[in-house]
Amino acid sequence: MKVIVCKNYDEMSATAAGELSKQICEKPDSVLGLATGSTPEGMYACLVKDYQDGKLDFSKITTVNLDEYYPITPDNDQSYRYFMNYHLFSKVNINLANTNVPDGTAKDPDAFCADYEKLIDSLGGVDLQILGIGQNGHIGFNEPGDILYPNTHLTDLTDSTIKANARFFDSIDDVPKQALTMGIASIFKAKRIIIMASGKSKHDAIAKMLGETIETKCPATILKLHPNVTLICDEDAYNG
Ligand code: F6R
Repeated sequence: MKVIVCKNYDEMSATAAGELSKQICEKPDSVLGLATGSTPEGMYACLVKDYQDGKLDFSKITTVNLDEYYPITPDNDQSYRYFMNYHLFSKVNINLANTNVPDGTAKDPDAFCADYEKLIDSLGGVDLQILGIGQNGHIGFNEPGDILYPNTHLTDLTDSTIKANARFFDSIDDVPKQALTMGIASIFKAKRIIIMASGKSKHDAIAKMLGETIETKCPATILKLHPNVTLICDEDAYNG
């Protein structure tokens, strides 16, 4: 795994945005795998700025997001669809029809997940996948446990994830208890993966991910098996 340690959050954001910009310029019809959460917000702001400065064209880009709470409606300001529209899609010239976020209103989540997996395949896989990492080592919402699931699936969120995400909701009771998420094999279909991390709270998970073992109780450790992964993190996440 290639590791890039940046001074701080802003440098991490600019570095990750630089990699995405390069991908978009080199292959204007790229399929980008995107993540939500606090970590990539600054990266999206850099991409929007590059677009406004005339450096980027999203018109042929397709996106596939990692995950979405379940159940949740797209107009809920805590939904990941809302997040993506707000931080990126509404601010660049992407065709909204080419943006894909798991559907938090799906009536039959299992059927939805099977279709999402087919969608990823029909796009020829993701060219560049952005990941964040949970304090507990989750990627997407592949949570620590005895087993990991390969394909897109409906999952229960762990108490630690519900607690970590409560900061975005009025109260912890409002945090959805489940999510739709790409599985490990879905993520591994990406040709290249960038995992981002910022802040001391991510240090333990990053240290485990860079350690020698692969453990289902720290799902990010499995990224060691992918041939093209870059960690872009700040000093706090790297050094603790
Ligand atoms: C979000 C996602 C999650 C987050 C992780 C870190 O789409 O897949 O795995 O990347 O929970 O979240 P933040 O960045 O808010 O610390």
